[in-house]
Amino acid sequence: MRAAALVVAALASVGTAAALERVPGDDVTQNYTLFCAGCHGQAGAGLPHKVPRLAGRVGLYLGVEGGRDFMLRVPGVANSQLDDARLAAVMNRVVARFAPERAATFQPFTALEVGEARHRPLVGVEVARTRLLQAAGVEAAAIAAEY
Ligand code: HEC
Repeated sequence: MRAAALVVAALASVGTAAALERVPGDDVTQNYTLFCAGCHGQAGAGLPHKVPRLAGRVGLYLGVEGGRDFMLRVPGVANSQLDDARLAAVMNRVVARFAPERAATFQPFTALEVGEARHRPLVGVEVARTRLLQAAGVEAAAIAAEY
């Protein structure tokens, strides 16, 4: 009787996990499409003067102090409807796709890190990104011309 109840409970939890996976958007590629690509584009190209590109750009942030933290605190990321774990997965996917040169050294984002960073408001986003990109060697004029 007791064993049967356990089996039922186990089956129920398997059912829950399977159901969760079928929730629309509960897939890292799909989550990027639904929650990020509308602005940044599927290929991470961004929109000139409106949304910064991610392709060829996130790797620069990862190379300078404070860049990793900045990436988790920009409004589009911090305020995403995705929970910490799903957001961490999307951010790891962003790095894998748009900064493949970092693959060997990149420490994946964790839900814990995302949860901690996203709740610290980032004041002065533009100033912060300009400072970081300049630290990474990008010319101020190039930064201003693009976004
Ligand atoms: C409503 C449009 C919008 C959405 C949706 C959005 N972003 Fe952004 N994102 C921006 C803008 C605009 C910036 C530039 C910083 C700012 O001014 O907010 C930015 C900045 C960033 C940056 C830092 C790059 C830089 O140069 O500033 C990263 C990384 C990023 N977004 C990733 C994401 C990811 C991942 C998602 C999905 C979870 C996402 N964004 C959703 C508009 C958006």
